[in-house]
Amino acid sequence: MKKINSLEDYKEKYLESVQDPETFWSNIASTFSWQKKWNQILDWNFETPLVSWFKGGKLNITENCLDRHLKDKSDKTAIIWEPNDPSDSPQFISYKELHYRVGVAAQMLKNNGVSKGDRVCLYMPMVPELAIAVLACARVGAIHSVIFAGFSAKALSDRIIDASAKVLLTADYGVRATKKIPLKEIADQALEKCSTIEKCIVYKRLDGNVNMDAERDVWWDDEISKVDHPSSAQQMDAEDELFILYTSGSTGTPKGVVHTTGGYMVYAEYSFRNVFQYSDNDVYWCTADIGWITGHSYIIYGPLLAGATTIMFEGVPTWPDAGRFWEVVDKYQVSLFYTAPTAIRALQAYDLEFVNKYNLSSLKVLGSVGEPINEEAWNWYNENIGKGNCPIVDTWWQTETGGIMISPLAGITPLKPTYATLPLPGIQPCLVDTQGNEIVGNDVEGNLCVKFPWPSMLRTTWGDHERCKQTYFSTYKGMYFTGDGCKRDKDGFYRITGRVDDVMNISGHRIGTAEVECAINTHESVVESAVVGYPHDIKGQGIYAYVICTGFNDDQQMKKEIIQQIVAEIGPIAKPDKIQIVSGLPKTRSGKIMRRILRKVAEGDTSNLGDTSTLLDPSVVDEIKAGAIH
Ligand code: PRX
Repeated sequence: MKKINSLEDYKEKYLESVQDPETFWSNIASTFSWQKKWNQILDWNFETPLVSWFKGGKLNITENCLDRHLKDKSDKTAIIWEPNDPSDSPQFISYKELHYRVGVAAQMLKNNGVSKGDRVCLYMPMVPELAIAVLACARVGAIHSVIFAGFSAKALSDRIIDASAKVLLTADYGVRATKKIPLKEIADQALEKCSTIEKCIVYKRLDGNVNMDAERDVWWDDEISKVDHPSSAQQMDAEDELFILYTSGSTGTPKGVVHTTGGYMVYAEYSFRNVFQYSDNDVYWCTADIGWITGHSYIIYGPLLAGATTIMFEGVPTWPDAGRFWEVVDKYQVSLFYTAPTAIRALQAYDLEFVNKYNLSSLKVLGSVGEPINEEAWNWYNENIGKGNCPIVDTWWQTETGGIMISPLAGITPLKPTYATLPLPGIQPCLVDTQGNEIVGNDVEGNLCVKFPWPSMLRTTWGDHERCKQTYFSTYKGMYFTGDGCKRDKDGFYRITGRVDDVMNISGHRIGTAEVECAINTHESVVESAVVGYPHDIKGQGIYAYVICTGFNDDQQMKKEIIQQIVAEIGPIAKPDKIQIVSGLPKTRSGKIMRRILRKVAEGDTSNLGDTSTLLDPSVVDEIKAGAIH
């Protein structure tokens, strides 16, 4: 498929995509391999909400990721796996080999009772078998739900139960820097509560020295060796579910965002190719974890659909030292590099020697995702990594959008530091005021919505369509609401200013304040809590928790227990940076917590807390101010 090749071309394509979206997307979709062509390009209604793309089309996404490339790319490397420990051997998996291994793993799933429409949960480390398992699910038409391997047993069991999953794939251990993560042990705890799981398939990353339930648990390697032929690809409807991915919202329970097959495929490939301006000999590396949407769309599906070489990295940016990213770039001659601002800020703190000892001249494009990138990090990335020669694509998108929505196209459309800039063709963003009126013109600010469907948008939230409707389609009539605030400058460039709901963005990970509060409140000595985000130098936002407790003696011990509780309920990513034990929270007479005050105190800005006279007990504010942690 041809890429957009100039600013003029972008403008033309954008116009076409808005004037006649159906023709625009059907031309792009026609470049994929379909078992049967669709009979309707788009059917939609944002009230219900209902969105279907390429209705009646039949396909299997893995035939597009794999089989389609066998003719002229069979020996090309599809996945380079870089292990946690740089002295261990990497793996180079060709398209031919990946095709075979996915087929075999798909048959293994079938042998273990998996069939079309079943939910399969994956709680695995960043090993090639995770990518293979994702694709194997898609091959047999099972709906995959990948759960980030840093989540706790409780978070895992909640997600398994919500999806009524039949099979869990996990590993004995995960390894990250010098840490060994007992994934199977955590999975065992989770499975005590999960009655729908019939089989647990365990990949051996280390010594395999873990408990195995004779009835339920089997080893990945044993099951693979029993397979005598790779599975063929299940025929899927364009609108059959491809995966569920849980993400945080403004209530305590994460929601299962559902993506379907055809539209997701078309948009993941299209956005990958155009944003990164991918060409055949590129080596592409996205440093995300497959447990998040970035890993789904831009480690696995987008690059493989495009026939690219994609790197999967098991390690962390700062081990064995802060030069690890750049060592890997040098080693594999990476040309397209995609990471998160939090990683850039963390690495920026180290000596430049960690960058300068590697040859980064292979780099052509740098990407950023997950949160607004601050100017200082943008400049450091541009000067020291890109050496001033690599466009930085600041890509704005969400789990729900499935693919990149607003971003420069590398080297094609203009850049502006800290701006995600312009929408991709097919994406119709708009800003609205709090009354829901569209704000037209430039040099304006409002809440970011999208007013027309695009192929990879979420279709529902698993098991609760009403929640999908309420969360995304009810705040502003006839529009998809992103939950983000946004500016449009005088040139029409978009700049995302951050969430406007009760969702925090901690190191690029979405965590709901209510989710953390629920976790804290499960501690028996906790009466009530309120959690807010505050600016944090490395993580973008940090978590500040105000907690009312009773029946405890030692503040430090109490705080330790609160942290333990959160780690057990959610996982280490949700650990608060600051906990302040308080005797009351600032509430209005109707009992609503005034979060605005708590945010100000957490930010260290107590000079103007606004009107506190409507509070039930204004004196709690003085106590909170006096005890604030800075
Ligand atoms: O607030 C926006 C922020 O991350 C949110 C989406 O989080 P999640 O679904 O976990 O997906 C992250 C990876 C796509 C958005 O609502 N966000 C993401 N990318 C950017 C961003 N904020 C500013 N600039 C970005 N480039």
